[in-house]
Amino acid sequence: MDRTYHTPVLLDEVLSFLRPRAGGTYVDCTLGGGGHAEAILDSISGKGRLVGFDRDPDALRAAGERLEKFGGSVELVGRNFDAFPHSLRKLNIHEVDGILLDLGVSSHQLDDPGRGFSFQQEGPLDMRMGSGAAGTHDGLEVVNTYAEEELKRIFREYGEERHSGRIAWRIVRERADRPLRTTADLAAVVRKAVGGRFILKTLARIFQAIRIEVNDELGNLSRFLGSCLPMLAPGGRIVVISYNSLEDRIVKNWIREEAKVRGTLTMLTKKVVVASGRERDENRRARSAKLRAAERRIP
Ligand SMILES: C[S@@+](CC[C@H](N)C(=O)[O-])C[C@H]1O[C@@H](n2cnc3c(N)ncnc32)[C@H](O)[C@@H]1O
Repeated sequence: MDRTYHTPVLLDEVLSFLRPRAGGTYVDCTLGGGGHAEAILDSISGKGRLVGFDRDPDALRAAGERLEKFGGSVELVGRNFDAFPHSLRKLNIHEVDGILLDLGVSSHQLDDPGRGFSFQQEGPLDMRMGSGAAGTHDGLEVVNTYAEEELKRIFREYGEERHSGRIAWRIVRERADRPLRTTADLAAVVRKAVGGRFILKTLARIFQAIRIEVNDELGNLSRFLGSCLPMLAPGGRIVVISYNSLEDRIVKNWIREEAKVRGTLTMLTKKVVVASGRERDENRRARSAKLRAAERRIP
């Protein structure tokens, strides 16, 4: 297995909040390259179970190879984690001791030009996490068919981009002459709409916004949080790592509501946990990571 597939972020922190123990059942909702999952399985030393989800068949294959050595302790599910309770019940699992979500895309997905996630490499405007999945739309469809107002809303809400209107206007004008096909086409149009020295940040925000829309990332997270608690055993823990303020806000508000209003969770991270200076230096992706954790109260 290619060890550079993805370097797991905040690994020590994940283990110290999740506290995996032998005999327990754990769910990694976002397997990626399987780095976090491998560390969880190492800590339970083969005595227990890990169910891993990923909607990307390529990630599932890579994680499967990495976790092969754990044999029957591992169950892989190639589905969206928003179907979490349903998928677990199908495996005859009704309660778990810990859940991890490490949101967003892996370095491998970002670095593969064929997936179209990065404005730094030319590739088709795809951006689907589970590419090939039936019924999913892609970046091409968003950029070439959405109305100007819709594009503007997506850029404003999911990219928190202040030039949303100008960029949406420019896309609609340019695509009338020639549809945008590649990441380079889109980047060129964004550059035409807003130049200047902060263009790389603008491009990152616009690409993030389209990716969130294509994959319904915020919807998946909200649906997951709204349905996961009945599956978490009393004393069980949930750990979520987010990479943008939109996801982090959803997680923060959910934990707060469950802890303070419903009394189902105990908040374990009063302040959000971020990567150490050393990890940030060694791994660029760690710079935007925000971890929050909570424990299911014993009724
Ligand atoms: C940041 S990576 C996880 C990296 C992993 N923790 C590791 O150690 O390698 C996120 C992964 O989650 C997957 N993913 C994102 N949203 C998902 C969803 N709604 N359902 C299933 N998988 C999802 C992506 O395909 C990607 O492989």
